[in-house]
Amino acid sequence: MALQVELIPTGEIIRVVHPHRPPCKLALGSDGVRVTMESALTARDRVGVQDFVLLENFTSEAAFIENLRRRFRENLIYTYIGPVLVSVNPYRDLQIYSRQHMERYRGVSFYEVPPHLFAVADTVYRALRTERRDQAVMISGESGAGKTEATKRLLQFYAETCPAPERGGAVRDRLLQSNPVLEAFGNAKTLRNDNSSRFGKYMDVQFDFKGAPVGGHILSYLLEKSRVVHQNHGERNFHIFYQLLEGGEEETLRRLGLERSPQSYLYLVKGQCAKVSSINDKNDWKVVRKALTVIDFTEDEVEELLSIVASVLHLGNIHFAADEESNAQVTTENQLKYLTRLLGVEGSTLREALTHRKIIANGEELLSPLNLEQAAYARDALAKAVYSRTFTWLVEKINRSLASKDAESPSWRSTTVLGLLDIYGFEVFQHNSFEQFCINYCNEKLQQLFIELTLKSEQEEYEAEGIAWEPVQYFNNKIICDLVEEKFKGIISILDEECLRPGEATDLTFLEKLEDTVKHHPHFLTHKLADQRTRKSLGRGEFRLLHYAGEVTYNVTGFLDKNNDLLFRNLKETMCSSKNPIMSQCFDRSELSDKKRPETVATQFKMSLLQLVEILKSKEPAYVRCIKPNDAKQPGRFDEVLIRHQVKYLGLMENLRVRRAGFAYRRKYETFLQRYKSLCPETWPMWAGRPQDGVAVLVRHLGYKPEEYKMGRTKIFIRFPKTLFATEDALEVRRQSLATKIQAAWRGFHWRQKFLRVKRSAICIQSWWRGTLGRRKAAKRKWAAQTIRRFIHGFILRHAPRCPENAFFLDHVRTSFLLNLRRQLPRNILDTSWPTPPPALREASDLLRELCMKNMVWKYCRSISPEWKQQLQQKAVASEIFKGKKDNYPQSVPRLFISTRLGTDEISPKVLQALGSEPIQYAVPVVKYDRKGYKPRSRQLLLTSSAVVIVEDAKVKQRIDYTNLTGISVSSLSDSLFVLHVQREDNKQKGDVVLQSDHVIETLTKTALSADRVNNVNINQGSITFAGGPGRDGVIDFTPGSELLITKAKNGHLAVVAPRLNSR
Ligand SMILES: Nc1ncnc2c1ncn2[C@@H]1O[C@H](COP(=O)(O)OP(=O)(O)OP(=O)(O)O)[C@@H](O)[C@H]1O
Ligand SMILES: [Mg+2]
Repeated sequence: MALQVELIPTGEIIRVVHPHRPPCKLALGSDGVRVTMESALTARDRVGVQDFVLLENFTSEAAFIENLRRRFRENLIYTYIGPVLVSVNPYRDLQIYSRQHMERYRGVSFYEVPPHLFAVADTVYRALRTERRDQAVMISGESGAGKTEATKRLLQFYAETCPAPERGGAVRDRLLQSNPVLEAFGNAKTLRNDNSSRFGKYMDVQFDFKGAPVGGHILSYLLEKSRVVHQNHGERNFHIFYQLLEGGEEETLRRLGLERSPQSYLYLVKGQCAKVSSINDKNDWKVVRKALTVIDFTEDEVEELLSIVASVLHLGNIHFAADEESNAQVTTENQLKYLTRLLGVEGSTLREALTHRKIIANGEELLSPLNLEQAAYARDALAKAVYSRTFTWLVEKINRSLASKDAESPSWRSTTVLGLLDIYGFEVFQHNSFEQFCINYCNEKLQQLFIELTLKSEQEEYEAEGIAWEPVQYFNNKIICDLVEEKFKGIISILDEECLRPGEATDLTFLEKLEDTVKHHPHFLTHKLADQRTRKSLGRGEFRLLHYAGEVTYNVTGFLDKNNDLLFRNLKETMCSSKNPIMSQCFDRSELSDKKRPETVATQFKMSLLQLVEILKSKEPAYVRCIKPNDAKQPGRFDEVLIRHQVKYLGLMENLRVRRAGFAYRRKYETFLQRYKSLCPETWPMWAGRPQDGVAVLVRHLGYKPEEYKMGRTKIFIRFPKTLFATEDALEVRRQSLATKIQAAWRGFHWRQKFLRVKRSAICIQSWWRGTLGRRKAAKRKWAAQTIRRFIHGFILRHAPRCPENAFFLDHVRTSFLLNLRRQLPRNILDTSWPTPPPALREASDLLRELCMKNMVWKYCRSISPEWKQQLQQKAVASEIFKGKKDNYPQSVPRLFISTRLGTDEISPKVLQALGSEPIQYAVPVVKYDRKGYKPRSRQLLLTSSAVVIVEDAKVKQRIDYTNLTGISVSSLSDSLFVLHVQREDNKQKGDVVLQSDHVIETLTKTALSADRVNNVNINQGSITFAGGPGRDGVIDFTPGSELLITKAKNGHLAVVAPRLNSR
C-alpha cells in the first residue's frame, strides 16, 4: 500500500497519489525530492501566496492585484490578510462548499489549511466555544461581491457541522429557511446584482454552552422602499411580486384578484425587465412557500401576507382623473374594490384618503382635495409604507420564530452569540439619491470600525507580546463620518433641520444650507464650491462627497421627502382601521394620537447604525472582504480597474500595511514549534521544555539572524516572508524524508501485522488439526483397547454358550474363518486341504466344502475336451484293470494313450481293402509268438469296431471277432506279453494268440474296451496257459529277472524273464 501526499508550501495543492501507481522516489537527496521541491516552488509562483502578508513587495498595489489575479486564475478565490479573508466572487459554482469541505476545515488550525470561508467559520466557532466570547463576522463589499452568498454558506456550515440542540433541530431549519423569505421580500434584481439585498441585515445566532444553535435574531436596516413604486431601467421590483405571479396557484391568484402577467402591473414594469434568465421565479416561489411553513407561518398568516403583496400591486394600478376643479378622482373602481377586500378597509374611506388630505387647522379637521400629482404621490406613499412596514413585521415574525424557546431557562444565560453582518455595499450609480447616501454613509461607518478594530487589535497584540509598536500611517475616514453625522454641522442634521423648519423648504434650499454650513470641508463639493474644471461634472442640484472609497455625486431631489417619509394622516387612519391582522399590527392607532414628530429616516438610520457599531464592538470581530471581479457577472473575468478600485476602497492595502508594519508573520510558539520542530534534532520528535525555549533552539538551529525575528511573550514574530519561505522549503524537504520513513515504518508495521495475523491463523489451524488428529488417534486407541478387551474376554468364554461377552469373539472367529476360507480354498480337485472350522461352523464348513468340491469338479469337467475325456476314461479303465496288479502299470500312467500308433499309410492298402468299410480304431505294431516254436514275428494289431485283426505285411493273418474273444491274459510282472483267448469252438481260429506290445497297457486297455472285455482281463502270477490249437495247450512261465528275456524253455514252455522294476 503506497499512500503518498504531495504537499505544496502554499498549502493549496494536496494531491493524493493513487495507491496503485508505482511509488515515486522520495528519498532524501534523490532526484524525486528535487523535482517535488521545484514543483512546489513553481506552484507558489503560479498560485501566489495564500496570505498577502507574505508578499515580498507588500506596499505595491500592483503586486497585491497580481497575487489576486494568479489565484483567481486557478479558481482560488480566497486569500488572507492575516486573519482577514479576502474573497473574489467566482460567478460560478466551484464545488467548494460540500460536506467534505466542511469536514476538512473542522477543528484544524487556521493556517494549516488553504484559505477558505469555512476556515474563518470554524475559527470563529471555536473561539466562541473555547473563549465563550461573542463573535461577529463582518462581510462587506460592493453590490454583487458575494456578501449574501458568504452569509448563506456560513449559516449552512453552522447548521451542518454544529451539534444539534437538545430540543430537536427545528431552529437550524428556521435559521436556514428565514433566508429565502427575507430575500424574496428584501432582494431585487439591480443592474449590479440579480439578487441584490435591498436592506441591511445583521443576524445573531445563539449557541448554547454545548455549541448547538438554539436561537437567532435579525436586525434589518433601511429597506430601499422607493423600489416598490419605481425601478431604474433594467431593474426589478422585489422578487416576491414576480414569484407570486409566476408560481402562485390559479385559485390563489383568483382570490387575490391578480393576473399572471407582471406586465399588467405598473409597479412591476418600470424597469422594463420583468423576466430575468438567471432567476426562476416559479421555483423560488415554491421554496419561499415551503420556508414560510418552516418559520411558523399559519395558513391564515400566509393568506394575509399575500393579500398585502397583492394590494400593493393593485395600488399601483389605481388611476386618477381630474374633475372640473382639477381634483383627483379614482377611476379604477375594480382595483379599489380589491383593495377594500384585501386590506380589510372601508371602500369609501380609502377612496377619500387617496384623493384628500386631512389638515388640522385651529383644532378643526379639514379635508383638502388633492390634485392628480398629489393623489399619485399619496398612492405611492401608501404603497411604500404598506410594503416597508410589512417587511419590518416580517422580520419581527421571523425573530419570534427564531427566538430561543428556552430564553427563560438558566442555561440561556450561558449562551453565546455569533453575529453575521450582511449589509449593502458601497454603491455608485449614475444618479445617486438619498438611499445611496444612506448606504454609503453606512459603509463609511463600517470601514471606520474595521480600521479601528484591526489597528487596535494589531496594536494590542504588539503590546501584549511586549514588542515595540511602530505607528502606521493610514487614512482615517472619521472625517467623512463626521461630515455626515456630526450634530448641528453634519449633513444629516442639516437635512433634518430643513425638513422640520417652517416655511417653504425644498431640496434646493437644503443644498444651499449645506453649502453654507460645510463649504470648507475637504470632502464636500457642490457646483458652486467646485473649481472651474470640476464644476462641469457637477449639476446645480447635486453635491459630491469624497468618500474613502471614491467620489459620489448625489442628486438632492427627493432628499427631503424621503427623509420625512410622510404618509397623509387620513391614509394612516384608514390603514389603522384595517381588518387585515398584519396591517393592523403595522399601523398602530397610538401613532395617530402621538403628537411628537417621528424621527426622520436619516436620523433613524444613523441611530440604528450607531447601535450596530456598538453591537459589533462588543464582539470579537472577524472579517470577510468580498470583491467583485467584473460588472458583467461573468466567471473567469478579472477586471483590473474594477478590482483596483475595490481594493482601494475596502482599504485592503491599508489593512496589509498595518498587518505588515513590523512583521510579516507571527505564530504562537506552540503552533510554530509544532510545525517546524522536525527541522531541528533537539526539538524533534518532542521538545520537553517550554515551547518558547524550543522555538529559540529551533531558530538558532535554522540560522535566523537577530534582525529577522523577535520573540514575544507567546508568539514569534518573523519580519520577512523570505525567512519563512526558506523555513517552509526546508520543511518540505524534511517532510519528504519523514514521509519516506513513515511509509517504511508503516509498511513494516502493516506487513508485520499481516505476518502476525497469518502466523496466529497458522498456529490456530495447526493446533486445531493436531487436536483433531490426537482425538482421532485417541478414539482409535480406545476402540482398539475395547476391541482387544472384548476379544480376550470372548476368547476366555469362547466355549461358553453365546452371550453378550463372547458374542463378538464368536462372530469375529466366524467372520474371519469365512473371510480366510476364501483365500485358503483348495486349488484343484486333488487338493484335499481345508481349514479347520470353529465348532459353530462345522456343519456349514462341511456343506461349503462339498459345494466347493462340486464346483471344482463341475468346472473341471466343463473344461476337459472330448479327446481328453476319452483319454481319461481309458486311463480309468487301465487303472481299474492294472492298478496294483501289473508291475509296469505305474510306468504307463504318466504316458498318454495315443489314439493309434500306426497311420493309415503304414497299413497295407490291401489290408484296408480287406477290412472294407470297417474303420480302424487303433493300430499298433506287435510281435507274435508262434504257438509252436514261439518264434517272434512282427505283426500289426488292428482294432476295428468288431474285431481284433492281426496283419502280416499286406495280409490279414487272423481276425478275432470280439464275440469270439473270451479273455485276455497278462502276467503281473513288468513284461509286455499278453494272450488273446479265442473261442475254442470257432473253427476258423487257430487257437489263442500270444502277442507282445511295447505299449502293453495301452494296447490291452483299448482292446478290452473295444471288445467290451474289461472284466475279462486276467492278470496272472507265474504262468499263463493258452490254447495252442485244437486239443493242444501252451504255457508261458513268467519269472522276475534282471532283464527281459523271452525264450523257449526246455519243458516246451515259453519262458519270460521280466525285469524287476525299481518301484517293486
Ligand atoms: N462564492 C461564490 N461562489 C459562486 N457564486 C457566487 C459566490 N459568491 C457570489 N456568487 C454569485 O454572485 C451573485 C451575487 O452575490 P451576492 O448576492 O452574495 O452579492 P452581495 O454582495 O450580497 O450583493 P448585494 O450587496 O447586492 O446584496 C450571487 O447570486 C452568485 O451568483
Ligand atoms: Mg446581498
